[in-house]
Amino acid sequence: MEMKAIKFVLNGETHECLVSPWRTLLEMIREDFKLTGAKEGCGQGECGSCTVIMGGKSVNSCLVPAVEANGQEIITIEGLKKGEELHPIQEAFVAHSGMQ
Ligand code: FES
Repeated sequence: MEMKAIKFVLNGETHECLVSPWRTLLEMIREDFKLTGAKEGCGQGECGSCTVIMGGKSVNSCLVPAVEANGQEIITIEGLKKGEELHPIQEAFVAHSGMQ
């Protein structure tokens, strides 16, 4: 299986890596970058627990091939934090026991 070189920005940092065409964006984010805020729930694009922002739009990362991250800016729930202050979305997850 041929690996593809991709380059992208993840939570403000530029990364380059090789990915399999079968790997999902969610797998890459969680396993390679240890960012576990996005979770696999249904794995079918229904629950939204894997949501990240890619290219300024929310996407279900369980359905997005990692190769599509090439040239994109990706923000995970971890990337919303500014310094020590939580983003309002993060505060809402804490206040309402959100799983992300
Ligand atoms: Fe449910 Fe991705 S895991 S939408």
